[in-house]
Amino acid sequence: MQFHYVKSVIDGAKLYKNLMQDANMKLKERKIPGPKSEKLLNESKTFEPKSMSDQVPVVWDHADGVWITDVDGNIFLDFTSGVLVTNIGHSHPKHVKAVEEQAKRLMNCYSFPTPERVELSGKLVEVLPGNIDKVFLLTTGAEATEAAIRISKRYSGKHEVLSFAGAFHGRTYGPMSVAGSINTRRKFGPALPGGIIVPYGNCYRCAYDKKFPECDYYCIKVMDRLIESCSSGDLGTVIAEPYQGTAGFVFPPKGWLKELEKWAADRGLILIIDEVQSSFGRTGKLFAVEWEDIKPQMICLGKGLGSGIPTSAVGGEKKIFDCMSPGEMSSTTGGNPLSSAAALSVLEIMKEENLPEHARTVGEYLLSRLNELWKKYEFVGDVRGMGLVIGIEIVKDKKGKVPVADICKKIISRCAEFGLMLGRVGMYGNVIRVAPPLIIKNEECDMAIEILDKAMSEIN
Ligand SMILES: Cc1ncc(COP(=O)(O)O)c(C=O)c1O
Repeated sequence: MQFHYVKSVIDGAKLYKNLMQDANMKLKERKIPGPKSEKLLNESKTFEPKSMSDQVPVVWDHADGVWITDVDGNIFLDFTSGVLVTNIGHSHPKHVKAVEEQAKRLMNCYSFPTPERVELSGKLVEVLPGNIDKVFLLTTGAEATEAAIRISKRYSGKHEVLSFAGAFHGRTYGPMSVAGSINTRRKFGPALPGGIIVPYGNCYRCAYDKKFPECDYYCIKVMDRLIESCSSGDLGTVIAEPYQGTAGFVFPPKGWLKELEKWAADRGLILIIDEVQSSFGRTGKLFAVEWEDIKPQMICLGKGLGSGIPTSAVGGEKKIFDCMSPGEMSSTTGGNPLSSAAALSVLEIMKEENLPEHARTVGEYLLSRLNELWKKYEFVGDVRGMGLVIGIEIVKDKKGKVPVADICKKIISRCAEFGLMLGRVGMYGNVIRVAPPLIIKNEECDMAIEILDKAMSEIN
């Protein structure tokens, strides 16, 4: 099903309707895993560590736009975007063409500049907040946060980094050391010294049992007192996500990030915003920092930047990057011509298809439809989101808010059996991760709601 062609080449409302009916027919209940998936899953169990996968038992074969086909021929509506990666939709023709053409020309030349890399850095500087005038390209999100932390320590000459409970910045040792959850640190021994962790602006589960807006950003105001008790006086950096993804799509209250920016600036601290997940249109703006006009000294990008071709970046102020000498920071694959060409095409597609705005409009519709489920089901404790990143928190009951991971898992499994692919996040593993590619349409959201409703009604 060539949905992209339907969308961008043929102005065919009628044809699209037919395809939707076709999709509706294919979203019938099916057995998961199918026989081919089962065989491959068994081989995966034999040859791959079990730590690699915690997903529904499906083996993807190919995907197009918002539709996934597994190796057994089952079709799924994708509400995962991988893990918030394929923002432009799977195998977007323009993206594929850019990768194909580049693959034929040049794929790697280590840290020699290439036209693609230089153009990408320039284009990113153009669209990033005005104070950001340099970009360092890398491959994974963890590499980007790791690099930002290292550079910030060098520049500030201070080793302590403030981060937040629930935070996730990647799985290497630097990011792990500022992670705010045991899931990232369990039994890995001492983290790097200098990590200070304070509560995030999590109003659904406020660490101080306060209510917004009466609290007047108490969680930020109290930070000085917390730091006094655990800092050695060497704090130089703050790292934060605009919303916490892995912690369960936790969105701080309006104005919280601005308060944090001001708090950091008043204390001469470097603010790193980790937009590995929240960027490239996901929240309804190209970058989430745009919502409150935040100007971090450093910003980390990943996931949607390459939309499937591993690409990440650290944007920062020139004076900060200048603390590193030539040859001190390079990477074998960072900024390679292939990933640079892919990311350039992502930027073009974002603009041509106005994807951030589309995510905002469809996201509002989807959020309102999901709120119908919140009203209907006592175990739906909270529905929250911005643009096309929405969390459905599953609890025992609305008042008690006790997290229930089992029900969450069951809903996700049943949805997959009905043809809707979802993921799971949360400190307690009890949040349904709703994050379709940004090209999703209202009609496809309706299909997803119907399936979610069907799965949830079986729990009641
Ligand atoms: C906010 C944030 N930072 C960093 C990372 C790490 O990215 P990667 O898995 O590409 O290393 C993630 C991944 O989920 C993330 O959500």
